[in-house]
Amino acid sequence: MNIDEAIEAATGQSITIQSPGTVANMVCGFDILGMALNDPFDIMTVKLIGEPTVIIHNADDFGLPTDPQQNVAGVALLDMIERLDNKTGFEITIEKRIMPGSGIGSSAASSAGAVVAANRLLNHFFSNDDLVQMAMLGEKLASGVKHADNIAPCIYGGVTLIRSILPLDIISIPSPPLFVTLVHPQIEVRTEDARQILRKQILLKDAIKQWGNIAGLVTGLMKSDYDLISRSLEDVLIEPVRSILIPAFAEVKSKSMEAGALGGGISGSGPSIFMLSKDEATALAVEKTMQEIYTPTGIPFHTHVTTVNTKGVKPMN
Ligand code: HSE
Repeated sequence: MNIDEAIEAATGQSITIQSPGTVANMVCGFDILGMALNDPFDIMTVKLIGEPTVIIHNADDFGLPTDPQQNVAGVALLDMIERLDNKTGFEITIEKRIMPGSGIGSSAASSAGAVVAANRLLNHFFSNDDLVQMAMLGEKLASGVKHADNIAPCIYGGVTLIRSILPLDIISIPSPPLFVTLVHPQIEVRTEDARQILRKQILLKDAIKQWGNIAGLVTGLMKSDYDLISRSLEDVLIEPVRSILIPAFAEVKSKSMEAGALGGGISGSGPSIFMLSKDEATALAVEKTMQEIYTPTGIPFHTHVTTVNTKGVKPMN
């Protein structure tokens, strides 16, 4: 089926997908590592329409822009329309369950979810790497910078290494079962600001530590070596700067480790904190610890206990 036939067959058709939250950086891999989660996720319906335009409906109360030029899913789909020589367009309905600004890949879930759903309607005309390129335009709109460490795991599922974005080089990393506990303190940390405050130059001795940890984490995941994963969940570059923005960060981390977590840190650019555990009982104990720390602060917060989503964006049953 060529693209004209695919467009003709799908016009008027729609698909509903769920698009997962993601944890970018995975502590030591700033901008190059990310993993997809089974919970939370957004729900999105995408319909192919005759006009080369994007019509956006919000099915939640977040009040995100419906002008496609100002919407992360909108800019990704506008790029797809351009690549299709303006032969089609899309109407989308977005129900966000991943809170915008949580650090759990909310913008990536919207932009990646939209292009994956559209591509399914188009009989998989585009490659996954094409979809990553389109969805990264959403990240650029959201944070001023193209980064793929939320987009890639959202589209590919599992843990992904983004070895390079120019040219794009994404590698799926196998991982042993991992339980993820997240706490989202509802304070505002804008990704753009959380990037601005980072040091632009680093010391060689810190770089050596960091790339040792990245290599250790990837090896630990591939060999299902939980001790190595645990030892490698260390960030000497980003966390010392960004953690200042997150109340009780050090306490959450140290008490979660006492509760048995393998390790963890800031999810993406924050404010959410994630911790990895080997089994569900430990992940639930970590959740309890997080609740005990945040409740007395009076800061509203949510917690999630989940696992690694190995499929990425997927159609709803
Ligand atoms: N790698 C990006 C950052 C992820 O840490 O700024 C943002 O979600």
